[in-house]
Amino acid sequence: MKKIIKAVLPVAGFGTRFLPATKAIPKEMLPIIDKPLIEYAVEEAVNAGIEEIIFVTSHTKVAIENHFDTNFELEEKLQKNSKHEFIPLINPENFKNVRFTYVRQKSPNGLGDAINHTSHLINDEPFAILLADDLIFSEESCLSQLKIVYESLGSSVIGVNEVPQDEISKYGVIDPKYVDSNIKVNNIVEKPSINDAPSNLAVVGRYILDNEIFKYLERTKKDSSNEIQLTDAIKLMLTDHEVFACKYKGNKFDCGSKKGFVAATVFKGLQDEVISKAIYDLVQKS
Ligand code: UTP
Repeated sequence: MKKIIKAVLPVAGFGTRFLPATKAIPKEMLPIIDKPLIEYAVEEAVNAGIEEIIFVTSHTKVAIENHFDTNFELEEKLQKNSKHEFIPLINPENFKNVRFTYVRQKSPNGLGDAINHTSHLINDEPFAILLADDLIFSEESCLSQLKIVYESLGSSVIGVNEVPQDEISKYGVIDPKYVDSNIKVNNIVEKPSINDAPSNLAVVGRYILDNEIFKYLERTKKDSSNEIQLTDAIKLMLTDHEVFACKYKGNKFDCGSKKGFVAATVFKGLQDEVISKAIYDLVQKS
C-alpha cells in the first residue's frame, strides 16, 4: 500500500465571514490563543507522517509563506536577548524536514478548483487534504484516525461527524452504508435541505483521497454559485470507486464562523495552565 506523504492545505478563500479582520490578514492566520489556525493544521499533518505540505494560496496570503519561512532577524534578536525559550516556537523542530510548496489559485472558484491546482504535484499516490478552519482537538489526531481506516481498507476516506438537524444544510452530507464496523459512502450531497439530507453525518475538512480524484475534478461542473465543489467530484468518483467515512473522535470547531472561533478559543483557554483559571472565572461570571 502506498504511503501518504503529501497533504494539500487550501487557503485561497476570501474568508468573507471574518471581514474586516480578513481584509489584509488571511483567515488561516487568525490565532487560537497564540498559534495561527494554519499551524495547528500543519502540525496535525506532520505528526501523521506527512513530508510535503502543498498550500493552495492567493496573492493576499503571503503572510502564510512568511510564517513557515525562517525569520533570521527575529531568531538572532531572541538569541542576543537570552529569550531562547521562544526560538522553538518560531522555528519548530518537527517542521525542519518538511517541504513547503505553494501553488496559486488565481481566483477562488471553489474548494474543488483549489485542489485541482495541485494535480501536477501529486503522483500516482493517495494524498491528504486538511481545511485549517476546521480545528479538531483530540487525543489521536483526526488525520491519524483517517489514516488507520485508509491503511485497513486501502480506499479513500473522508472525515465525518454528527451534526444537529438544523445545521445540516451548511455541510456536505453522506448517505452511509454500514459494512461490518466500517462506514461506506453510498452517496454524498452538498448542502442539502433538512428534508433531503440522507443522514446526520456531515463531512469535515479532513480527507485522504486516491489521486484518481483529479480525473473527476476535471469533469465536475460549476455549481449554482459558480464554484467547483470537491463534494461533487467525490460524488462522481463514487460511481467507479469505493469511498469510506471515518467518524473520528474529537472536538471539532468551525473556526470559519465567529461562533466556532470563539468556542475554540475558550476551549483551548480552559486547557492552558497559565490562563485557564482566569478564563474559567470569566465564563462563570458571565
Ligand atoms: P470556505 O468555504 O470556508 O470559504 O473554504 P472561505 O472563502 O475561506 O470563507 P468564507 O465562506 O468566504 O467566509 C474552506 C477552505 O477552502 C479554501 C479556504 O481558504 C478554506 O480554507 N478555499 C475555498 C480555497 O482555497 N479556494 C476556494 O476557491 C475556496
